[in-house]
Amino acid sequence: MTGRKVEINYTVYSSPDEMTASDRELVEAAMKAQKTSYAPYSRFNVGAAVRLEDGRIVPGSNQENAASPSGLCAERTAMFAAGAHYPGVAQVSIAVVGGPEQTLCTFPATPCGACRQVMAQYQKIGGKPMSVILIGKKEIWKFDSVDDVLPFTFTSLD
Ligand code: THU
Repeated sequence: MTGRKVEINYTVYSSPDEMTASDRELVEAAMKAQKTSYAPYSRFNVGAAVRLEDGRIVPGSNQENAASPSGLCAERTAMFAAGAHYPGVAQVSIAVVGGPEQTLCTFPATPCGACRQVMAQYQKIGGKPMSVILIGKKEIWKFDSVDDVLPFTFTSLD
């Protein structure tokens, strides 16, 4: 029998000012996208912004529906839009911000499992690490790869 440990690395920023200009721009895009959230049921508004390898930014927000499973999280809205509009262009970063009633959680709201799985697949097909930036009021967390938010990823592409 062997015990193993999985190490997860991430950087904590106390303000977007500590980040690179490119990451800061992505954070601002996610915050702008949060305003487009349609969440009349949960009243939890989430915005996301995907950075493509060509520098382009694709925003998304959570879109709810009276038939609840028909709604979609902000992260997948953004990633699927990026995949649909710019097929074959790697998604190299995603920033996410969420909070009740258009506010910001004190600590970052973390992506659901389904969104992490979708991130893993776009990272895989893009062929380069996708960083994940999670925005809270007090702290911003940056993971350099989806591997750090979803270890032991399922993929049938191997
Ligand atoms: N939500 C997201 O947009 N992203 C996540 O990673 C978790 C949850 C949305 C789904 C739903 O519209 C609302 O937040 C409350 O769960």
